[in-house]
Amino acid sequence: MPILDSHTIEFFSRSPEQTRRVGMRIGAEIKAGDIICLQGDLGAGKTTFTQGLAQGWGSQDPVSSPTFIIVNMYRRANGAKLFHLDAYRLDSVSEAEELDLDSMLAEGALIIEWPERIGGLIPKERMWVALDHIEGEHRQMRFNAHGKRYDDLLEFMRQSMFGGS
Ligand SMILES: Nc1ncnc2c1ncn2[C@@H]1O[C@H](COP(=O)(O)OP(=O)(O)O)[C@@H](O)[C@H]1O
Ligand SMILES: [Mg+2]
Repeated sequence: MPILDSHTIEFFSRSPEQTRRVGMRIGAEIKAGDIICLQGDLGAGKTTFTQGLAQGWGSQDPVSSPTFIIVNMYRRANGAKLFHLDAYRLDSVSEAEELDLDSMLAEGALIIEWPERIGGLIPKERMWVALDHIEGEHRQMRFNAHGKRYDDLLEFMRQSMFGGS
């Protein structure tokens, strides 16, 4: 996994399980107020990654791909919350504004699929993850940290996945 610059790491996944495991690593570190944006086409692995993330975070609830619901909420035994927003079906920014990301972030962590659809509403400090379908079960994941908190999260990922930077 090449380290491109101090704010970016790239990871190559060869299976859904591997994508879930990467999600689990970061999920274990996520806390209220954290924002993880997952950009990528349909089938890139955003929901698969979120399943691992929620598991690593300690969710008691299963992750589903929101079909009619735009936001799912998962809980941990201690009452902590994880919000999973899928912006794919949002028709307008005003619809997104009604979601009130700020109050979600005050209560829990936030994972966003299709973040580019509501770009301006997402706080500037965030982790941006770009997932790309290469071929078959191969996916490329690029993690981009925006802000100190997310640099720290990246550093944690470097340590836990490559044993140091
Ligand atoms: N390396 C991989 N990482 C993630 N998903 C993969 C991978 N290889 C194959 N897949 C499959 O691709 C699909 C990804 O679906 P999903 O996670 O729902 O994508 P998205 O939420 O981006 O639309 C799943 O059927 C999954 O099993
Ligand atoms: Mg999805």
